[in-house]
Order: sequence, then structure tokens, then C-alpha cells
Amino acid sequence: MNYKKLANTALITITSVAVLAACSSTTNRGSSAATSTSLKKGDLVGISMPTKADQRWNVDGANLVKDLKKAGFKTKLEYANNSPSQQSNDINNLVSAGAKAIVVASVDGTAVGPAVEQAESQGDVVIAYDRLVMNTKAVNYYVTFNLERTGILEANTIIDKLDLKGNGGKTTPLNIALFAGSDDDNNAPYFFKGAWDLLKPYFQSGQLVDPSGLVTKDTTDADWKKISVHAWDQTQAQKQMDAFMTKLGDKPLAAVLSPYDAISLGIMKSIKNARPDMTPSIPFSASNQQNKSAWPVITGQDGMDIAISNITYGAQGQTVFKNVALLADQTTSILTQIADGKKPKSTDASMNNGKTEVPTWLLKSDELVKNPTGEQKGLHYEVEVGFISEAQYQKDIAAPIIK
Ligand code: BGC
Repeated sequence: MNYKKLANTALITITSVAVLAACSSTTNRGSSAATSTSLKKGDLVGISMPTKADQRWNVDGANLVKDLKKAGFKTKLEYANNSPSQQSNDINNLVSAGAKAIVVASVDGTAVGPAVEQAESQGDVVIAYDRLVMNTKAVNYYVTFNLERTGILEANTIIDKLDLKGNGGKTTPLNIALFAGSDDDNNAPYFFKGAWDLLKPYFQSGQLVDPSGLVTKDTTDADWKKISVHAWDQTQAQKQMDAFMTKLGDKPLAAVLSPYDAISLGIMKSIKNARPDMTPSIPFSASNQQNKSAWPVITGQDGMDIAISNITYGAQGQTVFKNVALLADQTTSILTQIADGKKPKSTDASMNNGKTEVPTWLLKSDELVKNPTGEQKGLHYEVEVGFISEAQYQKDIAAPIIK
């Protein structure tokens, strides 16, 4: 267990710093956190983010730099252009530049394994940020948001808007398209599981149907790759939705389960091309189930500017927003505790990455909608927590992407 190793390491450090220094270059540390106690304030922390192309990772990177600097660390931030090989190079370079800790949001959770093993063998602390690094013991901590909650919030919006608990789909089954995230991202199956556990009963009762046949009442959580969108790519999502729209023909479409705002945008573009009759000005609801022009309930995640625009306009139903400032705070707190000689402890359950139990922190996301009720929040919440500026918000709500 990681904590035990940490405790052992701390003991060794106290009793014999010299012995540890000698060991650290020669021993093959089988498990995590072996040399994490060597991290000190003033050390360099290497940050490896997946891509600049998605809004959230830019905010994540900036937050981490700001927080870690404030806590007394030096930082170096790299973006991997969504390329697993570039990310491995980035991590190797960060270690060569003297980084004593690596914070990595992986492009491909498995492919990044050898690079973090190399970092760990040099004595680095490795923190998996948002996405778990898979199949290696060389990952010490994992900070993320509650993963299934994303799918739960998305599915509940669909269930409510379609009135599935009332009469929705009981006379004529309602058509739905379902998408999952990238096949190389360990988060994706959890997002799908959260949603599918809630939606599956309505497939079994016959209230929901997927006309493409990709998802049926017999689909299990494990089948998520059948509907995954590689690299969370908008264009790829649009292609997959084009195929769905061909199968749908001229029938009504009630909802689309989308796990990410850029995927939602690809989906909307496909709907506009295939069915110009469908319009966000006629939102799909239980009372107009047979109206072919009704616009489906489309979900999303990340609170991107495009989502704010499209939710304002009625083209997107909701987005799951992650206040990533909290993730950067948690990461900084872990590294600060280690530098102070303490053992970071989480009260959340650890996650297994296929090789080891990784101590994990699960933060809480929020659901943003146009007209908040109950637990939901309005779009302006993003300004209130500092994710975007007021000026950006005003721009977003003035210009719908899908018209
Ligand atoms: C993150 C999501 C994000 C997606 C696409 C996932 O790993 O957890 O917040 O929407 O990647 O970038």
C-alpha cells in the first residue's frame, strides 16, 4: 500500500538520508511514492496537459501554475497536442529539466505509463490529474471529479425532460442516440456507467429505443466502446451522428446522451445538416413527442463557451461543469503536504489502475442549465467561480453557435 511505503520512506529519511540517496539511484521501486519525501519547496513541478485545443485544459494549466507558484514551487507547463508520443517526450523533458514531481492529465492513460515509470525511477512524485494513468505502479496520487456523477446528471436531465417517469415513451417509444467518451480515457466508461445505469431500465420497458441498433436493452456498461468517440473529437462525433441520422430517417428524435460539449457540437451540426426541419425553438418535451421538428434534449460536459451559447439558445439542454480551480488546489495541497514531510490522505475510496490502488480524491461537479431548479446552477456560475470573465460570458450568451 502506498501509505505504508510512504511511512517506510519517511522513516528511512529520518534515520539515514545518505542511505536513501544511495538507494534512490539503484533500487527498482516496485510501488508508488517511494521517494516522494525528497520533494521540497522551491523544486520544479512539471505539468503535462493533453491539449490546448480544449478550453478546460488551458484553464487547468493556468490554475496549476498559479497555485503551485503561490505555494513556493517552480513550474514548467507542457501541452501534448493530443499526441501520446509527444506527451511521453514532454514528461521525459520535464524530468531532464529537473522536475521533482510530475502532474499529468494523460492523452492516453495507458501509453503514458513508461514515461511516468521513468519519472518515478528518478525519484519524482507522480500525480494523475483528472485522468488516471493505467497499468503501472508508478502513479502515487489521483485527483479527479466524481466520475459517475457526470453520467448521472446527464441521464437525469434526459429522464426529466422526456418525462420518462410519467408517460414519456409509453405510447410510442422515444428515439435516443447515445455517445461515450474516448476509448483511451479511463474516465469514459465511468461517465457512461453513471448514465446507462439510469437509462437502461427505460430501454427494458420499451420507452427508449436507439434506431441505430448500437445500444439495446441488452447493452451492458462494458459495451461502452461501441459508442465511444476517439480522442473526444468533434468531427468524429459528427460522422457517427451522421450515421445515426441516416437510420433515424424522418422520425422524431427525443434525446442525445453526449459526454462532452465539443461532441455535443458535432452532434448538433449533424442534426442541422440531416434534418433542417428540426429547430431549437421547438424543444422536445413529453407534450410534443410526435412533433418531428422538435429539437432533442442534448447533454454535455465541461461548461465550454460553446455550451453556454447553445444552452442560452436552447440547442443544448445542460452541461456538467467542473470547477477545475478546486482540482488545482487539491493537487497543490498534496504536493505541499509532501514537501512539508506529511502524508496526504484522502477519505475517498482509492481507484485501481490495473496494477495498484491509487489514493484518490473525488471532487464534486455541478450541472449548469438555463433555468436552474434544485441542485442545478445557472450559466453565470462560471463567472462567479472565476472560470470565465464577465466579458466572455456576455459574448457567449450573445452568439449562439447553432442557429
Ligand atoms: C475529462 C472531461 C473532458 C473530457 C474531454 C475527460 O477526461 O474528465 O472533463 O470533457 O476528458 O476533454
